Amino acid sequence: MNEMSELRKQNIAVTGGAGFIGSHLIERLMKMDNQITVFDNFSSGIREFLEPFQGHENFTLVEMDLLDAALLEERLKGYDWVFHLAANPDVRLGASNTYVHLEQNVIVTYNILEAMRKNGLDKIVFTSTSTVYGEADEIPTPEEYGPLIPISLYASSKLASEGFITAYCSNFGMSSYLFRFANVVGPRSTHGVIYDLVNKLKKDSATLEILGSEPGTQKSYLYISDCIDGMIFACENSCEMANIFNIGSRDHISVKTLANSVCEAVGLSKVSYRWTGGVDGGRGWKGDVKIMLLGIDKLKKLGFVPAYGSSDAVLKTAKSLVE
Ligand SMILES: NC(=O)c1ccc[n+]([C@@H]2O[C@H](COP(=O)([O-])OP(=O)(O)OC[C@H]3O[C@@H](n4cnc5c(N)ncnc54)[C@H](O)[C@@H]3O)[C@@H](O)[C@H]2O)c1
Repeated sequence: MNEMSELRKQNIAVTGGAGFIGSHLIERLMKMDNQITVFDNFSSGIREFLEPFQGHENFTLVEMDLLDAALLEERLKGYDWVFHLAANPDVRLGASNTYVHLEQNVIVTYNILEAMRKNGLDKIVFTSTSTVYGEADEIPTPEEYGPLIPISLYASSKLASEGFITAYCSNFGMSSYLFRFANVVGPRSTHGVIYDLVNKLKKDSATLEILGSEPGTQKSYLYISDCIDGMIFACENSCEMANIFNIGSRDHISVKTLANSVCEAVGLSKVSYRWTGGVDGGRGWKGDVKIMLLGIDKLKKLGFVPAYGSSDAVLKTAKSLVE
């Protein structure tokens, strides 16, 4: 057991801080009076997301590619915590490019761990995913579910990274927080189904193409504020060597329900849906999990419950993307 620590007045490195989740995380950590350094190469990150922090005495940006292990070792020094969010999060990509998730997710995580080991850093927070469970036959799926059989290369890269992280913790006296998120949604989303549907409706408000077969997959959508609150709560209230937590909403909804909410947010009531039929019996794409709902009792027992259900999370997100 390690000591419990508060996320205040800490020196924190955030990889992928210019991304969707990262930019919300640093906003919160800055408000909590921490010293933040963002490591990002802007491959999918957006410069404007960091504008509110530029020039602040508690904020530093290191623009670099985390594949550069030597530079990383030089720069990743003196931090109390490393929040490692940088990754290629595009699940669909793995079916056409088999290297990208190995490189951007596994090798980059290894580089972070090596730099931490060499520089004596000992606390890592990692953003993993519900997809590590594969097609679980226990719904809601708790953290101890197994065996874990990922069905996308993205999921396998996250599971591999989790393994590297816990092994580094065990071998080199580090501790880790591994968060398996449901689909995270909210303002500043730059990818995912809501983002796709809103953009399609902007181009064609009469017909909406939806990947898969009606009513689509059934998944949990987690609002970004719940995602950030859950992470911070767990970091401050759990202190094992490997702290593994699901963070998801309490319910799951179909893509059809989600599409109805998106249309409502856009202000359209007579859109006709054109389902593509999908692959492998109605999945949106190869490697798409059909049913996902995470068990969140572990975090609940510690005292954290998400504020939003999936439908509210989707509606709020779609409205923000329309604006
Ligand atoms: N969004 C979700 O629904 C979701 C769900 C589960 C897990 N996650 C995980 O959460 C994390 C953040 O996701 P997001 O949705 O904010 O994605 P994002 O694409 O918005 O953010 C990823 C960030 O990492 C940076 N990055 C990527 N490769 C890099 C490299 N080699 N060097 C430096 N910077 C690099 C990108 O520029 C970007 O700023 C990812 O690890 C993702 O796998 C996301």
